[in-house]
Amino acid sequence: MPVSQPVNFYLQNYYVFLFKNNKFVKEIQDMLPTEAQHKIQQLSTELEQHNYNYYVLDNPTISDFEFDKLLEELIALEAQFPQFLSPNSPSQRVGGQITKEFKSVKHQYAMLSLSNSYNQDDLLDFDRRVREGLGISASGGLFEEAIEYVCELKFDGLSISLIYEQGKLTQAITRGDGVQGDDVTTNAKTIKSIPLQLKGNYPAKFEIRGEVFMSRPVFDAINKEREEIGDALMANPRNAASGTMKMQDSTQVAKRKLDCFLYYVLGEELPHQSHFENMQAAQSWGFKISKEAKLCSGINEVLDFINHWDKARFKLPFDIDGIVIKVNDYKQQKNLGFTAKSPRWAIAYKFKAEQVSTELLSISYQVGRTGAITPVANLQPVPLGGTTVKRASLHNADIIEKLDVRVGDFVFVEKGGEIIPKIIGVDLTKRKNDSHPTHYITHCPECNTELQRNEGEANHFCPNENECPPQVIGRMEHFVSRKAMNIDSLGGETIVQLYNAGLVKNIADLYDLKKEQLLPLDRMAEKSANNLIEGLEASKKVPFERVLYAIGIRHVGETTAKKIAKKVKTLDVLIHSSKEELLAIDEVGEIIAISLHDFFSNEKNKAVITRLKSAGLQFELSEEQQQGGSDKLKDLTFVISGVFAKHSRDQYKEMIELHGGKNSGSISKKTSFVLAGDNMGPEKLKKAESLGIKLITEDEFLNML
Ligand code: IVH
Repeated sequence: MPVSQPVNFYLQNYYVFLFKNNKFVKEIQDMLPTEAQHKIQQLSTELEQHNYNYYVLDNPTISDFEFDKLLEELIALEAQFPQFLSPNSPSQRVGGQITKEFKSVKHQYAMLSLSNSYNQDDLLDFDRRVREGLGISASGGLFEEAIEYVCELKFDGLSISLIYEQGKLTQAITRGDGVQGDDVTTNAKTIKSIPLQLKGNYPAKFEIRGEVFMSRPVFDAINKEREEIGDALMANPRNAASGTMKMQDSTQVAKRKLDCFLYYVLGEELPHQSHFENMQAAQSWGFKISKEAKLCSGINEVLDFINHWDKARFKLPFDIDGIVIKVNDYKQQKNLGFTAKSPRWAIAYKFKAEQVSTELLSISYQVGRTGAITPVANLQPVPLGGTTVKRASLHNADIIEKLDVRVGDFVFVEKGGEIIPKIIGVDLTKRKNDSHPTHYITHCPECNTELQRNEGEANHFCPNENECPPQVIGRMEHFVSRKAMNIDSLGGETIVQLYNAGLVKNIADLYDLKKEQLLPLDRMAEKSANNLIEGLEASKKVPFERVLYAIGIRHVGETTAKKIAKKVKTLDVLIHSSKEELLAIDEVGEIIAISLHDFFSNEKNKAVITRLKSAGLQFELSEEQQQGGSDKLKDLTFVISGVFAKHSRDQYKEMIELHGGKNSGSISKKTSFVLAGDNMGPEKLKKAESLGIKLITEDEFLNML
């Protein structure tokens, strides 16, 4: 089930939630530890089953709302009874832990790769080698004994090895160099299709391998948001998945909605003597196993499978770059063995990136919502990879120059990992005598402003951000979007209409709109006009952090806006913050600090902000948000020791005071807890132990809040 809010939301709002739900608090506070332990266990099993239904079976049986309620209840219980918080609790899936440096660990069984094949002959050779290795008569012979092969999709992501002990995920390791990889357990736990607790009849200890990937729809949605805030786009889902697994903040990983198919199980006590059957068993333990895998009898069925997927692959919601063929029987696998690099019992078949040649009719230049210019090739329509291609990306000026692409040329178009086809070269044999080299445009095709290009950046951009139509419209679309001001009565088409009618030129103009101005617009009835005005009115209550995201400061995404708002509390403080002060905010680096500074020094932006302020938008945190305190830690005295990953020692001191607790510099009988980070002093440790004072980690502390 999707967790609709990150863990910070739960932590920050935990006390609000508790005090709003007095009955619930009482229920939890009155609970005996044994009852709490039982309830935590029950909720964990229930939530894990719902995760499985949603992410593995794709068949949810409760609503997101009900799921979130159960999860909230679990988080509240774990906060009250931290002694029962299991590292494999479903509450851990929302992330929260930071990994400063991933530990390098040695694989128990090396992670080998597969040898590749590219055509039918390669595969017939493979079949021949397998048969010879096993002493089985040649294919087509009179006493032919068919070899059972398992054909699987070759998922295009990053491989991962998961270790389970007593049904619990204990470690997740990347491939690395095959001998040792990085321990990415914390990040792997945020992947909802990876079970944290298995069900059914699983072996006591085993390792299972698979591919972490990002689905196309998730990838497209993330890139859409990145485009909106002017961040560099991710190249393809594979890079996105591997980049995500290397992120230090697991909360961010959780938001990236990675997925994982498993395809190889290893261990001493597996239930079956063949690959296919063990994968089916693994499915019953809770793993996501591709239902496209097929048990084939003989190489001809393998070839059919490959031919089918060569075409059908474009309809999958994720990328595959080939097919993997494995001998099913373990005894046969063992007899065939391994070469130095790869098993002799398996092979990868790689799809050819489909390529066609077609005529380049013209080049047009698109202006994105952040002003970035993208050259687009308009092509003589041609079938490619299951669709008709009419347009292809030409990337940027450098690539056009390097390929020397000219209008009228026959160009080679390829559909690779990226869904938008790309031009990879020119068929010079077909070049016309009268062709002219392409001159990249110098002025914006929308507003005629001279284009600029920043040092080190590939794309030109139009600097006229406040008047260039696609930029203005794009900014308004971002402003009204769900995660920003959430004005769903104002859609993209209406924005274009309003802009074309000269009614709005910037986001502040929206709040001056009158019903009478709207009614003459096409398809604008009384009811939709009322809804629009009401939607704008309601947006005046949208909290500061979302307003900050909505106004569209380059590189300031949703999370960054939240962090900034929390720190500065009011827009005035933000406007007057020095670069150093900005840099001290979590998530704000050099690029964002400069972007904030540029935005607030621009007179036009200042004028818009002033008008939005007088329209009544929230430019301060609410009182409730500002106070942010509670008496959760009343009567408790803390000693802080060591180094922490998530907050500084000073921040922890502040938090303790904010929630009614006391700080002390030395451990005594009066100390309630020692908040212990890394490298805690040995003296303090000894003293705490001798007085029997409980040490808590920063996660346990944050859970208390
Ligand atoms: S089996 C010893 N099965 O392709 C066999 N690999 O070079 C181990 N891959 O590193 C791999 N889909 O990352 C296997 N169905 C599948 C796969 C698969 C993708 C990747 C994996 C591996 C590479 C092979």
